[in-house]
Amino acid sequence: MTIMTISDEIQGQARALIADRLGLDFPENRQADLERGLRQALEHSPVRQPEQYLAWLATLPDESPEWSRLVSSLTVGETYFFRDRSCVDALEHQILPELISARRSAGFLRFRCWSAGCATGAEPYSLAMLLHQLLPDHGKWSLTILATDINPAALESAQLGLYNEWMLRETPRWIRDRHFHRRGRDTFEIDPVIRQMVTFAPLNLAKDNFPALLTNTSDMDLIVCRNVLMYLTSDVQRAAVARLQKALAIDGWLIVSPAEASTELFRPLIPVNFPGAIFYRKSQDTFITPQPCLDPETMAPRITSPMRIPARAAGASALTATTSSPSSTSPLR
Ligand SMILES: C[S@@+](CC[C@H](N)C(=O)[O-])C[C@H]1O[C@@H](n2cnc3c(N)ncnc32)[C@H](O)[C@@H]1O
Repeated sequence: MTIMTISDEIQGQARALIADRLGLDFPENRQADLERGLRQALEHSPVRQPEQYLAWLATLPDESPEWSRLVSSLTVGETYFFRDRSCVDALEHQILPELISARRSAGFLRFRCWSAGCATGAEPYSLAMLLHQLLPDHGKWSLTILATDINPAALESAQLGLYNEWMLRETPRWIRDRHFHRRGRDTFEIDPVIRQMVTFAPLNLAKDNFPALLTNTSDMDLIVCRNVLMYLTSDVQRAAVARLQKALAIDGWLIVSPAEASTELFRPLIPVNFPGAIFYRKSQDTFITPQPCLDPETMAPRITSPMRIPARAAGASALTATTSSPSSTSPLR
């Protein structure tokens, strides 16, 4: 089989078009990924010459099958359930109990969260499992778990809810037993109760259709956008973060991964330190007092000390406090 050559010039044009339409960045050290992705997409395309392929792509709308194919070839979809223990611990023991307790105190049983860049669904389903535990009365709540991604194939797979054992490598046994059904030697199906808690939709973070009522992306208590921004160009990162900030409710949290934790990028959100993780909050509230925030020399946000949670919120993890059955154990204990 002959391997098609893609010249530097064509790769440069492809990089520009892909940055413009998908927001994806392919710097020097990811040239091989770009070339591999282009080759893969070309192999299945009716247009086989790279120059013509690019010219043709440029005329097609983002939603066309050809762009979907390219998105599948170029995006990194690595994900798994309960990814990153520090993050899950902070969510389970501090952020979610505190938000829920604030809502309960206000008598306003509504909670909205969004997994932006959800890949094949492990992240939003993990959130759904945490909320299922933390809200024993979830039937009384207006609960939104929105999960979006640019990759339609990943969303299709997420909706199917079938996973292999490797995806469950950080999932405690009792959660497997409760929320998954074995379907064959290496296949686990997510329980319909959890599946129905999550709404999947396509959304390109490089576009300006959020926050908006139409995309149901406004007034979020929690946005998880982990291991996504690092793949975007710096311009798209800045624009997407600005829109994510707007999409947060007052006191809402933006959860990113450590590799993306440049406080500068997330200004004016308040950085708050947790053991092994830094997250960003739209503003302070009465329960959480991050030690803000401005470095006296640079006037830039400074990393804060761990957040203080009052005893009633800190001890209120429903996962550890409610019962003594195995199912009451913290997911990661
Ligand atoms: C490495 S996965 C991260 C999945 C999950 N957030 C996690 O941390 O496990 C990155 C995801 O970002 C998505 N993505 C990349 N560019 C995007 C864009 N412009 N808009 C929305 N999603 C994007 C990819 O399709 C991929 O599913």
